[in-house]
Amino acid sequence: MATIPRDFIELLVEKINIVDLIQTYLPLRKKSGSNYFACCPFHQEKSASFSVSEPKQFYYCFGCGAHGNAIDFVMQHHHLTFPEAIEMLAKLAGMSVPDQDPTLVKKEKRSSELSSLLAEVAAYYHATLTKSTKAMQYLRHRGITDTTQKQFLIGYAPPGWQQIVDRFGKTDADKQTLLEAGLIIKKEGGGYYDRFRDRIIFPIQNDRGKFIGFGGRIIDQGEPKYLNSPETPLFQKGHELYSLHVLRETAGTFDRLLLVEGYMDVIGLKENGIHYALATLGTATTPHHLKKLLRYTTHIVFCFDGDAAGRKAAERALSVILPLMQDHLQISFLFLPEGEDPDSLIRKEGKATFEARIAKASPLSHFFFQLIDETNHRNTMEERARYVAHARLALKPLPDGMLKDLLLDELSKRTRIDLATLKKDHITTTQQPAYKKTVLPFSKPMRLALTLLVQKPALAELVNTPLPTSSLPGWDFLTQLVKSIKQNISMTTGGLIESMRDHEASTLIAALAQETLVIPHHGFETEFSGALRQLLAKTQETVIQALLAKATQGELSEPEKQELATLITKKKS
Ligand code: CTP
Ligand code: MN
Repeated sequence: MATIPRDFIELLVEKINIVDLIQTYLPLRKKSGSNYFACCPFHQEKSASFSVSEPKQFYYCFGCGAHGNAIDFVMQHHHLTFPEAIEMLAKLAGMSVPDQDPTLVKKEKRSSELSSLLAEVAAYYHATLTKSTKAMQYLRHRGITDTTQKQFLIGYAPPGWQQIVDRFGKTDADKQTLLEAGLIIKKEGGGYYDRFRDRIIFPIQNDRGKFIGFGGRIIDQGEPKYLNSPETPLFQKGHELYSLHVLRETAGTFDRLLLVEGYMDVIGLKENGIHYALATLGTATTPHHLKKLLRYTTHIVFCFDGDAAGRKAAERALSVILPLMQDHLQISFLFLPEGEDPDSLIRKEGKATFEARIAKASPLSHFFFQLIDETNHRNTMEERARYVAHARLALKPLPDGMLKDLLLDELSKRTRIDLATLKKDHITTTQQPAYKKTVLPFSKPMRLALTLLVQKPALAELVNTPLPTSSLPGWDFLTQLVKSIKQNISMTTGGLIESMRDHEASTLIAALAQETLVIPHHGFETEFSGALRQLLAKTQETVIQALLAKATQGELSEPEKQELATLITKKKS
């Protein structure tokens, strides 16, 4: 994202009016002040909690917390990456994205060559399928219909060592491409051979539908059961999810998504009417997987086998989702009966029964305490102390919020230890901090000044720069905001969010943008000036106190003496 010039992005954000943009997606009703309201497109609701502010160029949902500027809106609505969103908005605004970094352009060109080749090979494998009685029989035996075969482009890699090499590797350059795409392997004595031989082939596409690799299943028995493409520049298993591209064709979000383990699980579920399942590709769940999923849904159902391995995998998934948790998300853990996987189970019991299982899946909170209960008793005082220690440690990565409060509350009930005691000291997370943690330590005038500045950036004009340095919490952030805004004093809140997108304080800015101010608009300037004056006075006072302290030790230098004198005079006036 660093490759699209910032100036261009900021210009684009200025040019697009967020109200006009969102109006093309949903009917906005003008309600109070400068805010438009609608039913939120990002979660199911009956009352209109979704607000769009024209002056701020910012949207915010009071129900689910979705928020951002025009770029965020199209990213969220169409599940786009940042550069894709820029591309789309630029088109709308009749602008063209300036040329990007040449090395990146070259890399992208190579990726797209590899991907086109993979697409051709996928088509070849798919066409080969119908020619193999053995492969067709196998699929039929597993209950995979023709429609599903076509939908997932299921294929067959014929036996023999040179099918792909001969067919797609005519020149040295072609062979190089095949090698890079992971389709052929170099022989020790020279020459190449096919990676996939005599296997059922599941092509893997990324979320944009580009072909990135293959999974190959052995027919009947043999080892390894599944052979996958190696990691290539295109294909990183820890990032990709099988069948994700299908979701992208649906605009808006999904009520829930089911995360399963295998290709055949996704296929079996789809075959039986469950079209919202995705699979990791033979790897443990990663944050990349989950962040991707959270672009499409606020409810993830993890599905695991009922055996010990499934249990372990669930534990790992929990540890990956905890740091990403937010209060509007719903996470469930579904454990299947031992010996079953989603594919085998749904074929036995059908959609309705399977969905009833999903509905009864353990919420994160249950599973969390179940895990703690497994390894900890709470009969004796010592056991209760250990129980608490264990639970608090496990809770540490969870961001502050309602869920954390509720889990602590439950912990307090379970151990009969006072909630206040539990909340004391090191329970706060080291992760993220969203709104609460970062804003609360700020003083009242600091909070007010920051909120006003974020909501009406033009107020920066009232600030005489350079600002003095100060150790007040939030001061550096305030200085930074003023500096950014002064570079473009006409910027809106949405523009400010954009200019600080990759900044560590971006969540804080978004949080401040959402604050409801009880001050009328015409009072903004007076309030802001007042808060700023207080902060400056406070800063001076801190310096005076420090100098006075030093003076009592008799350690003041001449310039320091002078500074102290000036400050004291200033204070008196
Ligand atoms: N897997 C893999 N390599 C293996 C075994 C498994 O990459 N040697 C991955 C595959 O993505 C597979 C998933 O892990 O889809 C689940 O494996 P498993 O449960 O063993 O297979 P099933 O999905 O049940 O496949 P099938 O029903 O065809 O036996
Ligand atoms: Mn299976």
